[in-house]
Amino acid sequence: MYSIYARVNGLSSFWSTCMMVLLAAVALSSFVFTASPTGKIDLASLKVYNTKAKRYPFKQEEIGFVKFNITADLRPLFNWNTKQLFVYLEAEYTNGQGVNNSVVLWDRIVRRKEDANIVQSSRNKYKFRELSQSFKNVSPAEFSLKYNVMPYVGLLTYGEAARTTGFEMPEALDAVS
Ligand SMILES: *[C@@H]1O[C@H](CO)[C@@H](O)[C@H](O)[C@H]1NC(C)=O
Ligand SMILES: *[C@@H]1O[C@H](CO)[C@@H](O)[C@H](O)[C@H]1NC(C)=O
Repeated sequence: MYSIYARVNGLSSFWSTCMMVLLAAVALSSFVFTASPTGKIDLASLKVYNTKAKRYPFKQEEIGFVKFNITADLRPLFNWNTKQLFVYLEAEYTNGQGVNNSVVLWDRIVRRKEDANIVQSSRNKYKFRELSQSFKNVSPAEFSLKYNVMPYVGLLTYGEAARTTGFEMPEALDAVS
């Protein structure tokens, strides 16, 4: 009885050790097969409108509207240890108070290599707003396309596929209501 236990125990710890070594090897292989694909962001339009802030009816809030084209072939990021990609477009600028802000405008989860060649013509999916409620005095905004690679085994990795030069935020227009 005892010896069977000992054997089963010994076998299972042997298998756990094998699995650990295998998983570590898979995780490490991700570092060997790193790809840094590049893409392109074209801004089609960048506008700012005045709207009424919901919580303070007599205050105005400025909201940005961005139309953009993205092309990025992220297929090289798929290897046997890639579960999925999280791809997002960010606006980055420094506001009037000297605080660096980055606002996620659009994102997508890519689960299959076939879907990783991104050609997208779109507008911001999430609201582009400044905490101070105004884009006056902010630095020119750069737009960047970033990705997180989520592996089956190991750590998330981050990368940047494209970045624009700085765009001056335009003067706010009055929204037609
Ligand atoms: C964005 O893509 C659309 C449709 O493919 C095209 O008509 C437009 O000229 C493009 N704009 C820019 C700024 O590249
Ligand atoms: C803001 O970003 C700029 C450019 O990336 C950097 O030089 C600066 O140190 C940042 N400032 C703060 C307060 O993080």
